[in-house]
Amino acid sequence: MSKISKADDDLQRMLSEKRIKGDEDRRVGSEVFDKITLETLYKLAKQGYLQILNGAISTGKEANVFKGIDDHGTFVAVKIYRVTTSDFKKMQDYIQGDPRFNVRTNNKRQVINTWVNKEYRNLKRAREFGVKVPRPIIAKNNVLIMEFIGDEDGNPAPLMKNAEVSNPKLLLDNIIKYLKLLYKDAKLVHGDLSGFNILIKDDEPVIIDISQGVVVDHPLAEELLNRDIGNLSKDFRKLGIVISEDEIKSKIMDL
Ligand SMILES: Nc1ncnc2c1ncn2[C@@H]1O[C@H](COP(=O)(O)OP(=O)(O)OP(=O)(O)O)[C@@H](O)[C@H]1O
Ligand SMILES: [Mg+2]
Repeated sequence: MSKISKADDDLQRMLSEKRIKGDEDRRVGSEVFDKITLETLYKLAKQGYLQILNGAISTGKEANVFKGIDDHGTFVAVKIYRVTTSDFKKMQDYIQGDPRFNVRTNNKRQVINTWVNKEYRNLKRAREFGVKVPRPIIAKNNVLIMEFIGDEDGNPAPLMKNAEVSNPKLLLDNIIKYLKLLYKDAKLVHGDLSGFNILIKDDEPVIIDISQGVVVDHPLAEELLNRDIGNLSKDFRKLGIVISEDEIKSKIMDL
């Protein structure tokens, strides 16, 4: 808790008060924490999902990920989508065509909330079929709380693209095993798979960032699967493993 930034500090203070003040709530510290985001975080705090929010793990294109601590003292990962910078057109294209979501709206918040819910549902479904992903805990508005992947001291696990991989062949086999479970059993395509969205914990892959994942009969599914496979083939070439896209595909689809 030593490195709490200004924005986190403000939020931390407000979370500990567990209430909202009238005019303090418009923008606190950074663009992440607009009024509705703050209200959402307070609600989650009141319900015990979040006691402390500290240390930004990542500031991405569309979302910021923070490390939090819940009421039991357990680390959690808190992914907060920024309503201002999200790519709604893409989100709408992915949401439409997914029979799980019957949302036809141009309301940005509604699109983001659906997107976050989609990430929650995809994580849950992947996990149910044995794919190693963070356990989703709760999705509320633009906030997703999930299992923190890291060590006991709260250091997040490294991305595959930065990790030291001791046995790339075994790692690839494990990733392919998960992609097969994802495709054949969970009937999902990740859609943004690469060394940026795989964490390495105890030498094992943990697949993250599955909000754009689509069901296998979605119109975009095949294109996305091919792209995921292409990325995987490229990333492993850098690790000294040469495997063609066709070979990966036939393993995933069990041909
Ligand atoms: N459950 C988690 N446990 C630990 N670290 C996590 C977890 N989820 C995400 N992270 C960290 O936060 C980073 C960003 O998360 P993620 O990939 O889900 O979002 P993103 O790539 O920023 O999304 P976008 O690019 O759409 O904004 C990851 O690269 C990883 O370092
Ligand atoms: Mg990512």
